[in-house]
Amino acid sequence: MKNLFKTILFLTLIVSVVFTNPVKTEAEVEDVELASAKGKRFNVGTYLSSIGNFFVTKDIKRNVKYNQTRDLDIYYKKNDKNKKPVVIFIYGGTWYLGEKTFYSKLGDFLNDNGYVTVIPNYAQIPWGFVNDMIYDISGAITWVYNNIGQYGGDNQKIILLGHSSGAHLSVLTLIQNSLGYTSPRLPTIYKTVLFNGPYDFDCFSDIAKKTGQVPMNSDFEKFVKIILGSQNSCPTDILRKYANKSIQSLGANKINVIITGDDTVVPESSAQGLLQEIRRTSDVPFSYYIMPKVQHCGLTEGIMNGDTGVQGFVLYVLNY
Ligand SMILES: *[C@@H]1O[C@H](CO)[C@@H](O)[C@H](O)[C@H]1NC(C)=O
Ligand SMILES: *[C@@H]1O[C@H](CO)[C@@H](O)[C@H](O)[C@H]1NC(C)=O
Repeated sequence: MKNLFKTILFLTLIVSVVFTNPVKTEAEVEDVELASAKGKRFNVGTYLSSIGNFFVTKDIKRNVKYNQTRDLDIYYKKNDKNKKPVVIFIYGGTWYLGEKTFYSKLGDFLNDNGYVTVIPNYAQIPWGFVNDMIYDISGAITWVYNNIGQYGGDNQKIILLGHSSGAHLSVLTLIQNSLGYTSPRLPTIYKTVLFNGPYDFDCFSDIAKKTGQVPMNSDFEKFVKIILGSQNSCPTDILRKYANKSIQSLGANKINVIITGDDTVVPESSAQGLLQEIRRTSDVPFSYYIMPKVQHCGLTEGIMNGDTGVQGFVLYVLNY
């Protein structure tokens, strides 16, 4: 427990140091769902309580191996044979601090609201780099597609839900696979829902902070690409290489991009840049939502803290 505390505090520190004072740019809003809810910065108690819940919750199959040494948990109703949509939740944690048990309350909540929910563990820095993470997430999608029927899940209704670095990895996995950077080809999933993700590291550069203009290939982006171990780690930059309306599929039939009004970690320009490139290069349907007054971890933590405003919003964007 002591180590866990230390690691979580360390993460909070790193997040604060690496991603400070983002620039606010004007939001392009396709669709705004208003709901009031208060987010918190990063609440250690929420995760500890969720870890505790992991050991006592009943509607769960724990530690199922999906790819060599990786495992996932499945939250599902053992006696309900009706086919339900499936959420695969890819947690955040700045690519190095995530663990499936931190989110067991999120698994319970979505399960109680009609989704079979799968939370995989995946490679983390320094034991793996971005390509290993993509490999694992691809493996989890494949496993769910092939096996989730046994748990009451409908493999035609797979929703890949990612938060923060997990949102970055979710969309990167889908984009890379649909454009042939990775193989074998994954099944096209029903939807991806992305919360507060960094999709282009130039948004965090000093130039962006000082001028509000997002540069290309900033030193900060070069640095993050080295840390992540891949030159193809920015989803937005990958799309920039493609001509207008030249992409048939981005791996999901619908892309919902969600930001929150009080996110002081990831600037709005991150989501806007991604949406601009999705719209330019493809006809894949997307929605864009802003949840006001919620901070960077406020959606995932709000679900687990029983914040009904956040819970209602999340169910809405999953379903929309
Ligand atoms: C692991 O996942 C990768 C990527 O989807 C897949 O190619 C590979 O076959 C999987 N391995 C196993 C043992 O399931
Ligand atoms: C591609 O689309 C962008 C934005 O939609 C537009 O500004 C640009 O002129 C287009 N380029 C070409 C070659 O049509």
